[in-house]
Amino acid sequence: MPDRKVLGILASGRGSNLQSIMDAILADRLQAKIGVVISDKPEANALRRVIGMDIPAVCIERRKFASKQDFEQALAAELKLHRVDLVVLAGFMRLLGSEFLSRFAGRVMNIHPSLLPSFPGLEAQQQAIDYGVRVSGCTVHFVDQGVDSGPIILQEAVPVLPEDTAGILAERILAVEHVLYPRAIQLFCQGQLKLAGRRVLLEERGSHL
Ligand code: GRF
Repeated sequence: MPDRKVLGILASGRGSNLQSIMDAILADRLQAKIGVVISDKPEANALRRVIGMDIPAVCIERRKFASKQDFEQALAAELKLHRVDLVVLAGFMRLLGSEFLSRFAGRVMNIHPSLLPSFPGLEAQQQAIDYGVRVSGCTVHFVDQGVDSGPIILQEAVPVLPEDTAGILAERILAVEHVLYPRAIQLFCQGQLKLAGRRVLLEERGSHL
């Protein structure tokens, strides 16, 4: 598979978004190749999901490095080793620093379980319930130095129902995440995303997404 963009997936936990990306590749809805999966947690279920898949899986633990900078240098070196074009954060529970982000400028994506800019940070689903919104959703965005503040690529709304707990809402949003993230990655891989300041344009049509 020449010409395919190479993804480096960073995941700290369950890995259901990683799974949806692997499934989309297998179904040929996403024409990309996973070059490496990296976790900062040795016990992460995400690492287990790639066993037997012929995908390199690596654990890089923060505690093994003297500084955040050294840790991120190790991450960057691993991504470079596998010639990664796009860094895909899939439940990666760490904020990346400016040096890392400038090395991969415009090439780091994240998915967040709310309609940004509402409810950034941790426990987005609980934040949505506590606020009392009727609609939440998920957002795929490029990563900048802020918390869930980078340019928005795709968003989709999900209803918040009166009886929802954070867990029930999370499940409903997650089902949408699993469709939206592979779709956004495919747009990147097809060269269709263009940054214009804070806005992400679909290059083919030149229209605002
Ligand atoms: C997802 O809800 C995602 O939006 C957020 O972290 C969670 C990761 O879930 N960034 P998983 O590890 O992909 O199952």
